[in-house]
Amino acid sequence: MKLDYRRIIICLSSALACCYTILYVFQWEAYTFEIARSDDTLPQIKGETIAHPCNSTETYNALVDSLPTFENEPKIQYFENNGGVYAAYLDNRIAIKRAVRILAILKNHTTAFCHVFGWSEDGTLDIHMSEAEMQEIDVLHVHKTIYSYLIGCRIPEDFPTPHRVVLSDRQCGHPIASLPVFNQYTDAPKYNFTVCLHQPLFRMTLDDVPRILEWISVNLAFGAEHFVMYTLPSTDMIRKYLQPLQEIGLLDIHLFDIELRETEDSHGQKCVINDCVYRYMYSSNRIILTDVDEFITPHSHDNWTGLLSNSPCADKSAAFFRNSFFPTQLVGESPKSDLQITVLQKTQKETEFYKCHARSKLMVNPRDIYICTVHQVLRLVGDARPRDECCMPVEMGYLQHYRPVRISNESAPLTTDKRMWHFEPRIISSLKFVYSTLNRTLPHA
Ligand SMILES: *[C@@H]1O[C@H](CO)[C@@H](O)[C@H](O)[C@H]1NC(C)=O
Ligand SMILES: *[C@@H]1O[C@H](CO)[C@@H](O)[C@H](O)[C@H]1NC(C)=O
Ligand SMILES: *[C@@H]1O[C@H](CO)[C@@H](O)[C@H](O)[C@H]1NC(C)=O
Ligand SMILES: *[C@@H]1O[C@H](CO)[C@@H](O)[C@H](O)[C@H]1NC(C)=O
Ligand SMILES: *[C@@H]1O[C@H](CO)[C@@H](O)[C@H](O)[C@H]1NC(C)=O
Ligand SMILES: *[C@@H]1O[C@H](CO)[C@@H](O)[C@H](O)[C@H]1NC(C)=O
Repeated sequence: MKLDYRRIIICLSSALACCYTILYVFQWEAYTFEIARSDDTLPQIKGETIAHPCNSTETYNALVDSLPTFENEPKIQYFENNGGVYAAYLDNRIAIKRAVRILAILKNHTTAFCHVFGWSEDGTLDIHMSEAEMQEIDVLHVHKTIYSYLIGCRIPEDFPTPHRVVLSDRQCGHPIASLPVFNQYTDAPKYNFTVCLHQPLFRMTLDDVPRILEWISVNLAFGAEHFVMYTLPSTDMIRKYLQPLQEIGLLDIHLFDIELRETEDSHGQKCVINDCVYRYMYSSNRIILTDVDEFITPHSHDNWTGLLSNSPCADKSAAFFRNSFFPTQLVGESPKSDLQITVLQKTQKETEFYKCHARSKLMVNPRDIYICTVHQVLRLVGDARPRDECCMPVEMGYLQHYRPVRISNESAPLTTDKRMWHFEPRIISSLKFVYSTLNRTLPHA
């Protein structure tokens, strides 16, 4: 898009001092333009009320109306080779900390300015400008160059509902991204349990689909009602393949359309985790975040509802489920069914449980979450540090993790755990349902 450099220069030279003063005086309050809709294709700014640092008609016309229209599916908007921003959500949870939250995957030290747009009731366009709050999401490997970010664009309490946010590299700099702001609020959640695959599908082919279908079927047996996954461009054929499950509303698959080699986390894993939390915050009472080989298995109760409501974690923001490996190279006892279902065939596990947080996976109340990471909640809404969390007693349920894994202590005895067999009829009927939706034949051992 074309920017009016002359005006920006004028702004930066003569008007800048004045703008700063005014903005300081008004404490960065929203500045307002009246936009008169005429027969012209572009709306016109009809006089301005307050001087502001980006006083360029073209710029604002461009920002407001002539940008590409977005469908419901976000797309990465690239910051050159430094990652990009993915999706923006309205966060109204704390009135005095209202903000637009943007999920991003970016290089360290990226700075940006937010221009949040909203139509006020009298039909004028409000714009609020502020410096973006760049929050890195739990960086563990600082030598990598690209990190997941939660960007905050603060808006005043009385600002209208925002519909778009534009980021620029400087206050009056080039617009570098323009995102629709999703307002997900509803007071009637559709689901009790949504399961998010906790990282984008990567290094997978259609041969891996049976594992995904098993993951869906087993979670269905525990009480899952809805599933969410993200594909990368290299795995997007899986999204198309699973289309029938999307059509019946069981599964949502989003394309996370960026393929980066040098990221701190696994292909933007933390960005995807938080996107899932923000996107489904209001549609689901609980969100479960697990990998395709991990199952939060209820032991004391028949399903997640019974387990959670009778546990010490019932009212907590987050329940952690401790990890224990079922090494898949070990031979287990044969289940009744002759279907190829790993969780029914593998009954031998390591006796030990990992401590809470180490490899634990989460079941969260998403409306309490500010930032979530792979094995813990980084911040709760309104709190500096998470307090309101709970480690599920292993007798009630734990994370059963099926993969080839070296036995950590060869002299420690293994344990047999056949809890999954209790769910065998339900797992099989879920599997039949899922396979028939896809018109596939069931996988026989
Ligand atoms: C802002 O733009 C309006 C309309 O184009 C113009 O009349 C006004 O002089 C500009 N103000 C500044 C401070 O540049
Ligand atoms: C980002 O840069 C700052 C300043 O150099 C540094 O302190 C911080 O550790 C860096 N963060 C990451 C995640 O690398
Ligand atoms: C969730 O669980 C409650 C209690 O078990 C139940 O009444 C309700 O119908 C379930 N579904 C939704 C969408 O809330
Ligand atoms: C969960 O199990 C309880 C019995 O423990 C049962 O009453 C309830 O209907 C089950 N809920 C679902 C969603 O299957
Ligand atoms: C390995 O298991 C044995 C038997 O349970 C135990 O005595 C020993 O302390 C364990 N070693 C380690 C390193 O945990
Ligand atoms: C599955 O097969 C039925 C009939 O055999 C057909 O109507 C349906 O379109 C097929 N669905 C898919 C996803 O291929």
